[in-house]
Formats: sequence, structure tokens, C-alpha cells
Amino acid sequence: MKPRGPLMIEHRLIEKMIEIIKREVSRIKETNKVDPIFIDNAVDFIRMYADKTHHGKEEDILFRDCEKKDMSPEDTLVMSELIEEHVYGRKIVGELVKAKNEYVLGKNTLNIILEKLSALVEFYPKHIAKEDDVFFPNCEKYFSVDELQDMLNEFWEFDKTMIHVKYRSMVEDLSG
Ligand SMILES: [Fe+2]
Ligand SMILES: [Fe+2]
Repeated sequence: MKPRGPLMIEHRLIEKMIEIIKREVSRIKETNKVDPIFIDNAVDFIRMYADKTHHGKEEDILFRDCEKKDMSPEDTLVMSELIEEHVYGRKIVGELVKAKNEYVLGKNTLNIILEKLSALVEFYPKHIAKEDDVFFPNCEKYFSVDELQDMLNEFWEFDKTMIHVKYRSMVEDLSG
């Protein structure tokens, strides 16, 4: 398997979650009510899985190694766009959490919540397509078979740490 293997498998799960968020957007529009528990679960998935675990491997391993290669200006540009898009995704999630917290306190932030959920629904499929169809196949050509294998091994090691990251942060949050 090449490093893009696990990343593309993760993309398929992120797409499923995006479909669920899309359904929730329709439900909120129909009922005019936000389910804060749904938002908490969606945010947990996006932060822990899509961002820390998935974007984490892309940024800390794949992009880091790509930076050491003499990539073409086109591939370098696409990589910088992907990095910026990760930043954008984090910003939207932060704004979603803020609006949800205000909603729970009684403020009518329903439209902001809808806007942020819709932004995620819009953003992820485009970002994923750019990686699957453009950047992943293009960047692999800069690496030897051994280098790709080393990257893949580092991915597995990275993943092993994630369950500990998640529950350590949960306990830290709960301890206040
Ligand atoms: Fe990405
Ligand atoms: Fe990705």
C-alpha cells in the first residue's frame, strides 16, 4: 500500500460524515431547531478524526516530506492551497463551536450554525477531490518505493498515538 491508501480510506469516512451533516442541515431548516449534541458529535469527529488524525498525517508526515523534495511550482502551489484549506476548516469549526455555545445559552445563532455547517459540507468534498485526484498521485512521483514505505510506517505510528491524544485532552477539558 502507498501512503495515499490510508488517507483515501479516511477520506471515504469523512465523506460519510459530511453526508450526515448535510442531512442535519436540512433537518435544522425544517424544524428551526439545533440539536447541540449532534453539533458536539460532529465537531468531535471533525477535530479528532478529520483534523488531528487525518490532516495531522498529511501535514506532519506527507507535506513535511514533500517540502524536502524539489517539487514543481504547480505541485508546490497545490500543497500550499491544501495547507491553507486545513487552516480554513479549523477556523470554521471554531466558529461553529462558538455559535453552538451561544445557542445553548439562549442566543439565536441558528443561522450562523447553518452557515458554518453548510461551509463544511461545501469545503470537504472539494478539498478531498483535490488531494485524491491531483496532489496525492502527483506528489508520489518524487519518492522512491522505500521512501513511500517509510512514510506509510510513520503513518501507522502516528495513528497509534491518537487514542491517547483524544482521551488525554478529554480529561484535561474535564479537569477545567
Ligand atoms: Fe487535507
Ligand atoms: Fe485529506
